[in-house]
Amino acid sequence: MTRVLVAGGTGFLGRAFVRGLHHRGSRVAVLTRNPGRASRLALPAEFVEADVRRPGTLAPALHAVDTAILSVQFPGYPVEAPARGRTFIEVDARGTAALVEAAVRAGVRKLVYVSGVGADPHAARSWYRAKGLAEASVRDSGLDYVIVRPSWVYGPEDRSLNRFIALLRAIPFVFPQLGDGSGRITPLHVDDLADLVCEATLGAAGDGLTLEAGGPDVMSLDDVVRTAMTVLGRRKAILHVPAGLAKLAAVVAELVPGQILSRDAVDFVIQDGVADSDLARSRFPAFRPRSFGAGLAEYLSRT
Ligand SMILES: NC(=O)c1ccc[n+]([C@@H]2O[C@H](COP(=O)([O-])OP(=O)(O)OC[C@H]3O[C@@H](n4cnc5c(N)ncnc54)[C@H](OP(=O)(O)O)[C@@H]3O)[C@@H](O)[C@H]2O)c1
Repeated sequence: MTRVLVAGGTGFLGRAFVRGLHHRGSRVAVLTRNPGRASRLALPAEFVEADVRRPGTLAPALHAVDTAILSVQFPGYPVEAPARGRTFIEVDARGTAALVEAAVRAGVRKLVYVSGVGADPHAARSWYRAKGLAEASVRDSGLDYVIVRPSWVYGPEDRSLNRFIALLRAIPFVFPQLGDGSGRITPLHVDDLADLVCEATLGAAGDGLTLEAGGPDVMSLDDVVRTAMTVLGRRKAILHVPAGLAKLAAVVAELVPGQILSRDAVDFVIQDGVADSDLARSRFPAFRPRSFGAGLAEYLSRT
């Protein structure tokens, strides 16, 4: 039985990977900073304590692991907190590099890195740059690898779409949308991503490749809200809050304790994120993600 380690296995995406791997008969271990808290998640996995920001903790977690999925992100993202080491560069770029180094030393055979659309080691934006640097660590490791670059991922346990839906239900007449709503994305249901990642982890069809992964619909952020309104049966006007105004508020938010909002996070949430899934589909013919409307209706019917 293959032993797979999921770093970030307690997270939104990681939990879906853990369940998908277990369903396929793998023995799964989850790397977490807090095994006590993680054990309350009722995941079919054992928990190993480690922190990617403390490289000395990583070796025991990688012992006897065949394949490791790297799906770590700092708490509170995309709002960075540099004083607490919660930045894309610190956790995504340096943390991944530390994990890769420990994996090589431990004799891990294969790495699967969960990147993101737009990853580029030379990008000006720190999140694209961090993902690009992390990808380079994985490619240069000498181990077998697959890199998956998802577009925006949604599902019953996400934070972003559930916040949207709570707002749609709570605020009468209007829906406040950050920016002009024109950013284009290809929403991907978390279970469709998990199927792709699990198949790429356990088989060889994606080895050595970088696979973008998105849903079938190319939608503007306003389209996402309109579809959610239709599915919920609530029609409201979309009130665009100019990004400049939100950044003014962010200047104040950056001065108070807690990761409420930052100017960079405003850019993060209004940006484009369109995935070209052709390569993923050609290597994994079963990768046929559901439409956003269908995925949303399915999970709203359960809440
Ligand atoms: N969600 C999306 O729409 C989306 C789209 C594209 C790409 N991605 C990428 O997919 C990955 C997973 O995202 P997500 O939404 O699942 O994130 P998430 O729900 O916030 O989960 C983050 C995970 O990282 C772990 N973690 C945080 N700091 C750590 C540290 N210092 N050492 C070890 N583990 C640490 C957490 O585990 P513990 O708290 O248990 O330690 C948690 O399991 C990220 O790299 C993200 O950039 C996400």
